[in-house]
Amino acid sequence: MNDIKKRIEFLRKEIDKHNVLYYGKSAPIISDFDYDILVKELESLENKSQSPVDKKSPTQKVGGALSSSFEQVKHLSPMLSLDNTYSSDDVYKWYKRTAKNIDTKDSFDCVIEPKIDGVSVSLVYENGILKIGATRGDGDTGEDITENIKTISDIPQKLSLPISMDIFELRGEVFIDKKGFELINAAAANSSEQKFANPRNAASGSLRQKNSKVTAKRKLKFFVHSFGKILVGKEKQNTAKKDLFGFEVKKNGEGFFNQHYGFLEFCKSLGFNLQKDIFISKSFDDISKTIETMTKERDNLPYEIDGLVIKVNNQIYQTSLGYTNKSPRWAIAYKFAAKQAETKLIEIRIQVGRTGIVTPLAVLEPVAVGGVMISRATLHNFNEIERLNINTGDMVLIERAGDVIPKIVKVSKKNSKGFFKPPAICPSCKSGLVKEKDDDAAYRCINPDCPAQFKRHLLHFVSRNAMDIDGFGEAVIDQLLAKGKLKILADIYHLSFEDLLELEFFAKKKTNNLLNAINNSKDRTLSRLLFALGIRHIGDKSAETIAQTFKNIDALFNADVDDFLKIHDIGETLSISLTNFFKEPKTKETIDALIKVGVNTVEPETNLSSKIFSQKSFVLTGKLSMWTRQEASIIIKANGGKVLDAISSKTDFVLAGENAGSKLDKAKALGIKIIDEREFKEMINEK
Ligand code: IVH
Repeated sequence: MNDIKKRIEFLRKEIDKHNVLYYGKSAPIISDFDYDILVKELESLENKSQSPVDKKSPTQKVGGALSSSFEQVKHLSPMLSLDNTYSSDDVYKWYKRTAKNIDTKDSFDCVIEPKIDGVSVSLVYENGILKIGATRGDGDTGEDITENIKTISDIPQKLSLPISMDIFELRGEVFIDKKGFELINAAAANSSEQKFANPRNAASGSLRQKNSKVTAKRKLKFFVHSFGKILVGKEKQNTAKKDLFGFEVKKNGEGFFNQHYGFLEFCKSLGFNLQKDIFISKSFDDISKTIETMTKERDNLPYEIDGLVIKVNNQIYQTSLGYTNKSPRWAIAYKFAAKQAETKLIEIRIQVGRTGIVTPLAVLEPVAVGGVMISRATLHNFNEIERLNINTGDMVLIERAGDVIPKIVKVSKKNSKGFFKPPAICPSCKSGLVKEKDDDAAYRCINPDCPAQFKRHLLHFVSRNAMDIDGFGEAVIDQLLAKGKLKILADIYHLSFEDLLELEFFAKKKTNNLLNAINNSKDRTLSRLLFALGIRHIGDKSAETIAQTFKNIDALFNADVDDFLKIHDIGETLSISLTNFFKEPKTKETIDALIKVGVNTVEPETNLSSKIFSQKSFVLTGKLSMWTRQEASIIIKANGGKVLDAISSKTDFVLAGENAGSKLDKAKALGIKIIDEREFKEMINEK
């Protein structure tokens, strides 16, 4: 095999591998920029090579291989990709080429939309009813994620169409905004779930959950950006040429919009959200100015965008321009340059987490990236270090995407030999590390008396959502640990005025404030205490559910796995974790010591019990007319009730609106009380 062929083979394998990581696992290991470079190189080698391009080459396909865990659905029309570039010169060339191809000397309108960094999905509406939601998959066939799609409130499940449409296939982007992303990762930090590296991965991971209840909890959003097959209802065929919305109808019933912008406005009238920053350009100059403005504006948007999509507005022109096998000729994606910089890796620091997991952190020579000084970067795990072949002293390329903690993209100059090896012992207590059973890139310190773990534990115990001891920060903890004042959690409550007064920057007032804060924290609820104890997999929400069910700590010591499993929302992992925790002799010692110093271990009767929906669970189904579903949920929760996604024998009420579907049948079968909006209104008025 000659060198070019070898390189082509290599690139195909490499790109396929990254496709699986990106599309299949929602966990890419290289930046989009590096990925695009690999694809561009492969395309250019394939163009140079004499032999015809293999159909299986990633340059001939769109997206990734299909995951086996979802049913497959064939798209009614192929879901293509966009040709992309990082250079505005290329956009200029595209503009000129397009003008020539549509044979116009005049300038022509383009619509410029932000390119959202999310997940491409297809929605099929049959006579206005949402029937299928699917991922792009390989462009021809995607994964059926209808149930998950239906949890997204931005996506109407029923459209009031002004013209009958047998089929309306819409395409758009499901994404998570910056706030939603922070919430997911904060929740992950509170449990032991993996954090997502960026909003795109979070959206993709959330959308491909097997359990749509999990999807429903993520704040997924949707913007529409294009359409697939459109089939106008039989009665309109042959008669209508154009409707009110500039919607053109062909003889066979297939229709299209004569302007892309008109299509977007039509979608808006149906209840879809449009992006705020959509522009119509009249010339290349306009495009160029928009690129400039949006490059500056991108960080101010509430969601991540990775570029702009420039589309010919006129659909007749679009049709005449047509498609390559991968993308439309009538559009081009201009991608923003990643925010990258080069710096030196000073140290790989090993951090020990609260549960003993050790993680590597890159300590860097400070450097400005996109206006922010960066001195730390994530290295994820030890496999990542090996993949990057990275070690102390190397020059590295770092990249910052949005507000996410920066990552190391690659070694730009190798100054060291080999890569940094996982340590054999814990940097804190020096006991041997063990490889995690279910993750071979993770190592854990299993010494229950490890000082580093204890410090993390203390930090967690005093944190805002836990015992909330204001003023008990890392600096205080470090000093008290060094002085040997904190050996067990209960020692926090043994600290004297003198102990605190000796600390750096502590005078009388500050000392009294901290002593008061410590004292006040003794009265926290059992749910906070449970969360503060740092039981594996137990976040603040599950701690609350458990505390409200068991009411006091003794009941928890007496409970077994089955007792926990009976609670709604508490699954097997949590139940096992709780049982193991309360079986540990050390737990009893810790709790006894906390009780001895006066820490509360009882869950107070919440005033929720006096509220009308206290202990009652609701499932909402169908279209409500008096409230949106979200509003109804808020009303239920404010009155002490719970809103669940799925009906089970534990459901108390089903609030059914118009066109309630299978949930209603299930409720009837289970004999659950079904109420309509009028009855619901009476219930809340009676309070
Ligand atoms: S138009 C034929 N508009 O980017 C495809 N796509 O890299 C027409 N995307 O598959 C797509 N924002 O998932 C379009 N404003 C936008 C977009 C957008 C994000 C995604 C889309 C597409 C991918 C191509």
